[in-house]
Amino acid sequence: MKVVKVETVEEGSELAFKLIKEAISRGAKVFGLATGSTPETFYKKIIASDLDLTDKVSINLDEYVGLGESDAQSYDTFMKEHLFNKKPFAKSYVPNGKASDLEAEAKKYDQTIAENPIDFQILGLGQNGHIGFNEPGSSFEQTTHIVDLTASTIEANSIYFDKKADVPTQAVSMGIHSVMQAKEIVLMAWGDKKADAVSAMVNGPITEELPASILQKHPNVTVIVDKAAAKLL
Ligand code: GLP
Repeated sequence: MKVVKVETVEEGSELAFKLIKEAISRGAKVFGLATGSTPETFYKKIIASDLDLTDKVSINLDEYVGLGESDAQSYDTFMKEHLFNKKPFAKSYVPNGKASDLEAEAKKYDQTIAENPIDFQILGLGQNGHIGFNEPGSSFEQTTHIVDLTASTIEANSIYFDKKADVPTQAVSMGIHSVMQAKEIVLMAWGDKKADAVSAMVNGPITEELPASILQKHPNVTVIVDKAAAKLL
């Protein structure tokens, strides 16, 4: 696990942008993407660039159960607004949180990942150490599955909703096993709310109680942290 400390979100996002450009020049075709505030500046840099992604594939990590393309707070909408509308991919996959059979949707998503092995995975980090929506206690062996969100994640994500009661309590998430199959992973974390999780991810024991700690075992991970997120390292 390579840890790079940067001064600002801007500098960290520029580094992540440099890494994705290098991956593309080496032939990367499939990109695992994340939502949340963390990658927003990185996505802005992609939009402002001359990168052409129209022959690439993107696969998002997760979606809230019950939300979809017609909902403002869905991750589908987030990705369109923050990236896809300006930089379309040949094909972009986001789990369907409105599927009538969510188990079947999860299986279908695993099939999509199997057919499109991820070359380059972007990750954010939950305050409790989650990646995607793999909450503490998630098995490292899991593939795409339905998750019950923890109270702390609902609280953290409620800033995107009118009120906490509007935050869905479940999500469909790519599993840790699938994330670990990506050839290269870049995880970004900004701000002191992430400092505990960053410290445990980098220096703590590898444990399902801190899902991101498994990344210590991945052969090609770059963790990019700003000063505040790195303050306990
Ligand atoms: C959400 C998402 C994650 C994201 C994390 C951090 O729950 N499912 O993919 O990395 O929370 O969000 P943020 O980047 O807004 O801090």
